[in-house]
Order: sequence, then C-alpha cells, then structure tokens
Amino acid sequence: MDSALVEEWQQRAQQVILGGVNSPSRSYKSVGGGTPPTMARAQGAYLYDVDGIKYIDYLAAYGPVILGHAHPEVTLAVQQAAAEGILYGTPTVWEVEFAEMLQAAVPELERLRFVNSGTEAVMTTVRVARAVTGRTKLVKFAGCYHGHFDAVLVAAGSGPSSMGTPDSAGVPLSTAADVITVPFNDLAALEATLAAFPNQVAAVLVEPIVGNFGMVPPAEDSFLQGVIDLAHTAGSLVIFDEVITAFRFHYGTAAQMYGVHPDLYALGKIIGGGTPIGAYGGRRDIMESVAPLGPTYQAGTMAGNPLSMRAGMACLRALQEPGLYGRLDDYGHRLEEGIMERAAVAGIPIGINRVKGAFTVYFGPQFAHPSHPLAVRDYREAQATDSNAFAAFFHAMARRRVWLAPSKYEAWFVTAAHSEEDIMETLQSVEGAFTELRAAGFAL
Ligand SMILES: Cc1ncc(COP(=O)(O)O)c(C=O)c1O
Repeated sequence: MDSALVEEWQQRAQQVILGGVNSPSRSYKSVGGGTPPTMARAQGAYLYDVDGIKYIDYLAAYGPVILGHAHPEVTLAVQQAAAEGILYGTPTVWEVEFAEMLQAAVPELERLRFVNSGTEAVMTTVRVARAVTGRTKLVKFAGCYHGHFDAVLVAAGSGPSSMGTPDSAGVPLSTAADVITVPFNDLAALEATLAAFPNQVAAVLVEPIVGNFGMVPPAEDSFLQGVIDLAHTAGSLVIFDEVITAFRFHYGTAAQMYGVHPDLYALGKIIGGGTPIGAYGGRRDIMESVAPLGPTYQAGTMAGNPLSMRAGMACLRALQEPGLYGRLDDYGHRLEEGIMERAAVAGIPIGINRVKGAFTVYFGPQFAHPSHPLAVRDYREAQATDSNAFAAFFHAMARRRVWLAPSKYEAWFVTAAHSEEDIMETLQSVEGAFTELRAAGFAL
C-alpha cells in the first residue's frame, strides 16, 4: 500500500496485536506476504480504509454481512438494543422471539441454544453427539473448517481410514487419535472408515456445501443422503455445520435445499447480522441431553445476548424481501460468466465453483481442459490449484480496489448491497487483473 496513514496503522497494529491481525486468515500470509490495509468504515457494498480509499467488498466479513454493511434495519436494531440494555444474564423476550423465528424457518431445530461463535456451536454439537451415543470418535471431511477447537484441528492421517494427526501445535495426539478425516464427495471412503471403527463413531460432521476450500457443493445430489444413511447404519449421528450455508442461498438451510435431515445443526455468521453469534440445535430427544435438562454441559455469559438477538432478527427479516436471493444468484451468475469470458480472452486458465451468490475462482493449467462440471470436488483438488496465480490475482484486484479474501480457499460473497454498477466495475477490474497475470506469465 502506498499511503502514509495505512502504513502508520499497520505499524501500530504490529506493535500490539499479535501478527497485526485478530484472526490469521486476515493476514497476507497465504498471498505471498505483505500487510493488509487497515479499514476505518464500511457502508453498503464498500469498505473504506484509513485513507478513505473505497473498496468494493466481496469478503462480506467472511460471510455474515449478506445484507451489506451498516444495513439500516440492523443498525436500528443495534441502536435499540444499546438503548435498552445489551446484556441481562436472564431469559429475555428477544431470545425467545429469535428462537421461534429460526424454528419457523428450520422446523428441525426442535430445540436450540444460542452461543457466541460458530466454533462454540460446532464444538457443542460434537460434545452432545458423544454424550448421546456414548462413543468418542468423530469423522469429518478433509479441508472442511469447523472452527478452532481441538477436535476439528486434525488433518487426515497417513492413509485412508487412518486416525488423524494434529493440524495445529497444541492439539494433543490423543485428541487427533479420535478424529478420522475422509475426502469430501467420497462415500466409499466414508463407508470404509465407518466399517473400520465399528460402534466407535459418535458423529459424522460435514459442511453440506463446503465453504472452506472454496465453494464446493456435493458432486452428486445423493451425496448428503448417502452420508446420513451410512452414518445412521453405523449408529452415528450426523451434524451439519451450516455456519456458512444457513440463510446464504435461500431463507433456510442447505439441508432443506437437498431435502435431507441431519440430527444436529450448527449455525452462525448470517444469523447474527454481523454481531457475534452461533447457535446449535436439532432433534429434541438429542438436545435434551444438554444442561439443565441433561448431563451434557454447555453455558455462556454472553449467550443469547439481546444485541445479537435483535441484530439477528433484523437481518433475517430483511432477508425475507421478495427477490433478494434471486438477485444474489443473478449477480453471482453474471460475475461467473463475466470472469470466465475475460479469463478466456486473456488465456488465463481458471475454474469457478458457484452456488448462487457465492463462488470461488480457482487458477491452474488443469482448468484448460475441465473434466467435470465442478472445478474442484475435494480438498486435494483445491490444494492442487495455483497459489501463485491466485496471489497475483488477489493483489491485482486489491490495487483496483476490489476486496477479496486473501486466500485461494475462500469465496466471493455477493451481498444485497451490491449494485449493477458494482458488478460492471468489478468485471472491468477483473479484466485489468487478468491482463496483469498474462504479462506475469500466468497465461497458457
Ligand atoms: C463452516 C464453518 N464452521 C465454523 C466456523 C467457525 O465460526 P467462528 O469463526 O464464528 O467461530 C466457520 C468460520 O469460518 C466456518 O466457516
């Protein structure tokens, strides 16, 4: 970045905040280094840095800001909460109303609990599944991200159906030994794993549409039902991590899109309208294992706080605007087509996975001759995409004031605040960025 103020803030950040960021994904580590600009304001589809430079934002704060920044109704809800008290530590009318609203949208949330993050939500579903089944092992899918608690920071082991290895320092080997990681979109691997650990797997945990090695939907519509059938046959529960997907593609869950029924859900991001939130819930008989009704402990000082409840309700009400999801899909489609066309002209091999208003652009020569309608089907294929080309693209877009996530494994999120002009301006920037990539030798 060229400006004095941006540099000054970056230096101040480095002196006090570890690594200058409060979440590692915000650093530029995955895009060849450098320091991200410090933002000072956000409005609608735009972020403004400390020098007042405006960026068209497709990060959407990693997903929650589906309405765009400072949406008037969410802002009003936050103001009202501030005026009437943001935390009581008692039951409140808003948590009841919000739970009713979520249950009306997702009737399978027969009972639910609010927590403060997606991590907390998923973590608790795993505990509940272990409590209810009396088993300890967890099966998850490679490359899915479920937060930063120990059991989900486990990578695949040395071979199919083998026990996992810690994916972070500080995760005990004993924890990793209880987690088995299989490839997404691979029912045979799941079946083999469940057979290898009979009566030991408490739950199969999955992002029904992956958002964490790019947007990766099931390759076959039958995949999720297959996961559920295999898990249930093995006596295991099924947890859908819908922290990214719930209310992203329609007013409800990805499970509803596929007509499938997991036992437990973890939710987060969008349901808080940009405030800290998570929620988990599902079958009543399973949820009744949680304290105070049952022996499984989960608690939280901030859980169900009126600020998040009121912001979340305002967000969900705004999402009921007729045509809103259709518009996200339409803009997503236009961006996908426009980006593909410009890549073809520049000779840059790319593939795009898109689910309505969310998509990922992958780079690499393998996309010159696509063999499958999905650009990427599992984590291995995502890893094989070109990190250097992505990094060059990311920086070229940032210089053109289009804000993307600084990682090839993330998605672009179209928000309700993006306009026709934003889409056109973005495509112009893409054209310029591809010209740069061509000059840098990334064309075929
Ligand atoms: C699918 C999924 N689950 C869980 C989480 C963790 O949520 P949080 O960052 O709110 O703890 C994330 C965060 O990106 C996520 O994408």
